Amino acid sequence: MRSSVKVFAPATVANVVCGFDVLGFAVNEPGDEVIMRVTDTPGVLISKITGDEGRLPLNPAKNTVSASVQDYLKHIGRTDIGIDIELHKKMPIGSGLGSSSASTVAGLFAINTLFDNQLTAQELVPFAMKGEELACGYGHADNVAPALLGGFVLIRSYEPLDVISLPFPEEMYAAIVYPEVDVPTKDARQMIRSKVYLKDAVKQWGNVAGLVTGLFTKDYDLIGRSMVDGLVEPTRSILIPDFYKMRSIAMEMGAISFGISGSGPSVFALTKDESTGHAITQALQKQLKSIQINSLSFVSSVNKKGPVVLD
Ligand code: HSE
Repeated sequence: MRSSVKVFAPATVANVVCGFDVLGFAVNEPGDEVIMRVTDTPGVLISKITGDEGRLPLNPAKNTVSASVQDYLKHIGRTDIGIDIELHKKMPIGSGLGSSSASTVAGLFAINTLFDNQLTAQELVPFAMKGEELACGYGHADNVAPALLGGFVLIRSYEPLDVISLPFPEEMYAAIVYPEVDVPTKDARQMIRSKVYLKDAVKQWGNVAGLVTGLFTKDYDLIGRSMVDGLVEPTRSILIPDFYKMRSIAMEMGAISFGISGSGPSVFALTKDESTGHAITQALQKQLKSIQINSLSFVSSVNKKGPVVLD
């Protein structure tokens, strides 16, 4: 058994506009790192967190990384072991890019690596979902499943859990902009209507099926016209500065589609190539700057690998 490991796990774009809680994909950057060491004292300890500006709990029962590692150890019957965790946040919290998911997944991948991959990535998904429940009150899988499996993922069902990896056009890029305003997932979930009209549901499942078909057939036009969300976006977009202005800019510059990443405030455009992605993020950041909002940007193809061992 190795005595330590360092793992990177990626950020994710959940929902992918029309697939609230059922679609997500992983990106190459940003992401989080976890360093995990085996110690002589039984129990799971968080010894250090960097990059969080003191916002995340060090209490092992409250931190999503340690709590999910504790669940994993219970599951494999090894609560006798001592584990020390360092979490290095390399991405903004409350950004809509699956920040808690990246940390939790890095931790689970690290402990599973220490235990010679006793569980498959698919089997780790429920442990990571419990981490999401701790972070935002609901154990959704559309961040953790793509972070763990890499690629583009569909959660066909939650009960029973049925997670399916989808194909996607390899040359497709996500141009992501994070406006520096805080939107906690918990709040962004509470503001959504819990009941929808059948006519709206009909549009939504037509679009989800259209997007999945477009991914299979690499049909950008179909992908683009399917990425429409009448259920969640109209409410959540209120929290995002200049959301509709940014959409017009991105679409005029050749984006396939544009929408909210996860629960926001990050937004993303899908593009057919990397240079269009960079041009769009620059234009969106310029727009945000004009209304005094600082922002970060990332341009990435879909990350096929998921978490990786760095050391
Ligand atoms: N599907 C989740 C939501 C993703 O929209 O609340 C959170 O990043």
